[in-house]
Amino acid sequence: MARQRQILALCVSALLGILLLLRHHLRDLSEVARTYATFYPHLAHHPETLHRYRPANNPPTPRHEIELAPAIIHQIFLTEGRDAPLAKYEAGITSCQAVNPDWTHYLWTDGNATTFVAAHYPEILPHYEGYKQSIQRANILRYALLDHFGGVYLDLDITCLQPLDDLRLLSFVTPGAYPAGVNNAFILSRPHHGFLQHLLDGVESRDLLWGMPYIENMLSTGCMFFSNRWMSYVRSLSAHSGDEERVFILADQTGDIEPHMLRGKVTTPLFTHGGASSWHGWDAAAIVMIGKHYYYFAAFLGCVFSLAVLSIRRCTKSRPVVSRRWRRSMDKTGDSEALVGVKER
Ligand SMILES: *[C@@H]1O[C@H](CO)[C@@H](O)[C@H](O)[C@H]1NC(C)=O
Repeated sequence: MARQRQILALCVSALLGILLLLRHHLRDLSEVARTYATFYPHLAHHPETLHRYRPANNPPTPRHEIELAPAIIHQIFLTEGRDAPLAKYEAGITSCQAVNPDWTHYLWTDGNATTFVAAHYPEILPHYEGYKQSIQRANILRYALLDHFGGVYLDLDITCLQPLDDLRLLSFVTPGAYPAGVNNAFILSRPHHGFLQHLLDGVESRDLLWGMPYIENMLSTGCMFFSNRWMSYVRSLSAHSGDEERVFILADQTGDIEPHMLRGKVTTPLFTHGGASSWHGWDAAAIVMIGKHYYYFAAFLGCVFSLAVLSIRRCTKSRPVVSRRWRRSMDKTGDSEALVGVKER
C-alpha cells in the first residue's frame, strides 16, 4: 500500500512537472491564436499603422524633418560549415547596392556575426549559440543588428526595385505576413527602437524545444515570434506614443497590405522576392492550418487548459492525504506499525 501511495505521488508530481514544462509551450501557442484573431481587427482600429507607400518619384508626406533610420543595409549569410556559395545571391545583393548607392552595406557571416553578438548582446549569446538551426541564429542576429545600428535588414533572396530612402523617415516598418502578422524578410528600423528591445527581451523565454524544426524556428525566433511580440508591443502603445515609438506596415494607396507581402515568388512595389519558400514539411502545413482555423485551435487550447486545471485540482485535493499518510508512516519506526497506520483508512 505504501508503495501504491508512492506511485500515486510520483504520478501526481510527474503530471505537475509536465504541466509546468508545457505551460510555456501553451503560452506560445495561445499567443499565435491571439495574433491570428487580433491582427486584422487591430489594423482596422489603428489605420495609422499602415504606411501607404508611393514609389520614390512621388514621395510620401514626411512624418519627420529628419531621417530616423540610418542608411545601412544589413544582410546575413551564415554557412556554419555547409558548402553554400554566396554567388547565387550576388545579383540580388548588387541590385540593392545599385538602387541605394549612398548606403553602407554590411554582410554578416559566421565569424563576425558571433563576434558582434558576443560584444553587444552577451545575454543573448548562450541562446544564439545554443539554437539547433542556423536560421534561428540568422533571425536573432537581424533583430540585434537593427537594434544596435539601425538601418535595413534584407533577406538574400530579395532584389531591390526602388530606393529605400523615403522609408527612412519612419522609425520602424515591415511588410505584413500571411495569414496574419508581420514578416521579417525586410525590416527597417531606427537604432534602439522600443519594439526591437521588446523583441529581444522575449528571446530567452521563447527559446523552447518543440521537436519540429519548422515550428521551433517560427515560435522561438522566426515570423510567429516576431508577430506575437509585435502584437504585444502594439497593445502596449497608447494614443500618446510618438511616431518614433510606433511601428508601421507597408500598404498600398488603398491601405491593402497584401501587395507588399513577401511570400513565395512575388514582385511587390519595392522588391522581387526569390521565393525560397520554407513552407514545406508537415509542421509548416500545420501552422498554415492553424492559421486558417484559429477558432477551432483556440477551442482546442481551451479544452487542454481546462483539462490541465481539472487535473491540478484533483492533484491538489489528493496531495495532503498522501503527505499525511507519508508523514504517519515515516513517524513510526517499524514496518508493521506503518501498515497498521495504512489500514486505519
Ligand atoms: C564579415 O566577414 C566577411 C568575411 O567572412 C566580410 O566579407 C564582411 O565584410 C564582414 N562583415 C562586417 C560587417 O564586418
